[in-house]
Amino acid sequence: MTSPMEPTILIIFGSMGDLTWRKLAPALYNLLLGRQLPEHFAVIGLDMKDGSLDEFRLRLKDGANVFCECGPLDEKTWNGFAANLTYIPGDFADPATYAALRKQLDAQEKEWNIPANHVFYLAIPPAIVETIVNMIGEAQLAADRQRVRIVVEKPFGHDLASAIALNGLLTAVFEERQIYRIDHYLGKETVQNILALRFANALFEPVWNRRYIDHVQITVAENVGVEHRGAYYEHAGALRDMIQNHLMQILALIAMEPMVSFDADEIRNKKVDVLRAIRPISTDQVQELAVRGQYGAGLMEGQDVPAYRSEPGVAGDSSAETFAAIKLFVDNWRWQGVPFYLRTGKRLKMKASEVTIQFQPVPHQSFPEAAVLAWQPNHLTIQIQPQEGILLFLQAKQPGSGLHLSPVDLHFSYQEAFKSKSPEAYETLLADVMLGDATLFMRADQVEASWSVLDPILQTWADQKPVDFPNYPSGTWGPQTADGLIERMAAAGCSLPKGRYRNEPIQFFIIQISRKIF
Ligand code: BG6
Repeated sequence: MTSPMEPTILIIFGSMGDLTWRKLAPALYNLLLGRQLPEHFAVIGLDMKDGSLDEFRLRLKDGANVFCECGPLDEKTWNGFAANLTYIPGDFADPATYAALRKQLDAQEKEWNIPANHVFYLAIPPAIVETIVNMIGEAQLAADRQRVRIVVEKPFGHDLASAIALNGLLTAVFEERQIYRIDHYLGKETVQNILALRFANALFEPVWNRRYIDHVQITVAENVGVEHRGAYYEHAGALRDMIQNHLMQILALIAMEPMVSFDADEIRNKKVDVLRAIRPISTDQVQELAVRGQYGAGLMEGQDVPAYRSEPGVAGDSSAETFAAIKLFVDNWRWQGVPFYLRTGKRLKMKASEVTIQFQPVPHQSFPEAAVLAWQPNHLTIQIQPQEGILLFLQAKQPGSGLHLSPVDLHFSYQEAFKSKSPEAYETLLADVMLGDATLFMRADQVEASWSVLDPILQTWADQKPVDFPNYPSGTWGPQTADGLIERMAAAGCSLPKGRYRNEPIQFFIIQISRKIF
């Protein structure tokens, strides 16, 4: 089967860097194996490092070897692909680099004897984006609105003002439809499946609203620390690094209104409506609605691990948060009064990303008290990773004499149902860019709406230095104050049934709780 993709030249800025090595190389190799690359396909690597074409080829090959989960690299297949790689070392601020690029683009198209799409991929630190975008503009390399696309990695700004400036810079050279802002969470199968679950089944939509849903928890827990990215993370923190993009995008998919068609802009319009409906948080509410934390030393799987402040590139008195939890409300008819809890952190107990929809308790409890000791309201958990599936928790009668209800679950597992591994997010996203499908990419207005929700929190946290950091040991579930976000709701008389989870106090941690249920 031949690929429906048009001839494409992928131009990677930062081709010897970490992102290209870890993510793009294995994604390209997997697309190659799956025959999902265009028939006419070439890659031009650009990097500030001197270096040769052979080194670039080796770097990509190594990335595919190390990170592709497809087994040992097939030399023959790889060599065929490697023949279409070229490399241009050069200063990104020097017009000569772009002149060399143009020459190579022309030569490639001449060899194929057909015009190709040009996809610029900025796999570089944010500080260089401005230079490259301006230089591409000056060199007239973005002028063809149909054939030229640009892929930009997060962070999309540092706050609302810088995001607006970045979008202004990009749209001065490219049209919005040429710009593909990558949020790799949107490329994950399980995240995409949120739309299928909600809108390809008639079952959920009638109960997907404030009348039946008590609250929503969105958790992206990581067990890794900041690894080698301390210097970046010092200026980012968990709110910017994860919540601004990945968690807010998940929230938008959970809360959006049904789309009329599967058109990129239709879906993105529905998502941006949600982000714009999030109730603004004023700076004096930050204390009540947001919790931050930073990991101290601790034990992870029996191994001692250092505190964040002892990681390379991190200040000994750093205020960067490695954990953030926030409570949001979406002010519209569907969601009025339903809290959305978002939390993420590094060096937490386990790697687990889940969305849990907690339904209301039954309106009237008709069973005798002794029968419902283990009773809990229904909840639906969408497992994003590493488990991929959906769990629906129900009550059932325990077998035997007497009447005792017990929670049970209906479980759909991706792997069991489809017997195949989900593609990596970057594979899906790279293929979509080449196909010109922007559905899974963030539009400027989404990015800006998300920043405007978070700006007051960022501002308040910057103004008030934390006095209790580090406030959670590595290998735990984050600062205890995060549980307070939910406990405060229970105290305020909301419907969450305190003490119903096997008499556990109500906690933030559905993941922890749901593990205990089994
Ligand atoms: C990135 C963040 O966007 O996502 C990292 O910058 C984080 O800090 C990573 O570790 C998590 O991605 P995943 O796919 O491993 O959950």
